[in-house]
Amino acid sequence: MNKLRIAVLASGRGSNLQSIIDSIEKGALNAQIACVASDVKNANALERAREHSIEALFLDPRGKAKEEYYSQIADALEKRRVELVVMAGFMRIAPASFTSKFAGRIINIHPSLLPSFPGLHPQKQALEAGVKESGCTVHFVTEQVDGGPAILQARVPVLEGDSEETLTERILEQEHKILPKAIELIAEGRVKIEGGKAIVDYAVFQDKWL
Ligand code: GAR
Repeated sequence: MNKLRIAVLASGRGSNLQSIIDSIEKGALNAQIACVASDVKNANALERAREHSIEALFLDPRGKAKEEYYSQIADALEKRRVELVVMAGFMRIAPASFTSKFAGRIINIHPSLLPSFPGLHPQKQALEAGVKESGCTVHFVTEQVDGGPAILQARVPVLEGDSEETLTERILEQEHKILPKAIELIAEGRVKIEGGKAIVDYAVFQDKWL
């Protein structure tokens, strides 16, 4: 089976990128990372890419209007024949011109159970709201911020005495599981969008993920 060509966009630490690299290296994810791109020159994600001989691209947003910047990103991705764009901690809001160009081919990981707590600091929002459960969501990206169809979600408890840090850590552990899993489901052709929702076919999904 051909490997799905993906690009990972990340602004910082890159632990979700690492979970994708690890899943590919252990043979659980049939994908190939065509490049990792960042808007931050010294992002650790770029360093992780280099360590694994993956092309690391710093795309400098300074002095560019949003449309112009995103058209630079789109050009870089198209040049590398990227089939799926994975936003893994990419801390920018894409314009409609970009999300429509990659419609159905761009996903994001967000650390809350969307539609709860979109936007910034979702873990803090969850603590402030006093919910007893939170989690993370992999979803298709549309022009509506954190609003596209959910593909996979994982729940975690919110515990007495949790701080933003402890909740963030507990959620992150689940992010590292569901992001590579969602990419594999897409690579296997098991995800389609119908009526504004993502329909996931688990029928014979390998138990390598259990
Ligand atoms: C992750 O928790 C990801 O869900 C979040 O940023 C973190 C990046 O960590 N993304 C967002 O909040 C996007 N709205 P990482 O760089 O270690 O993968």
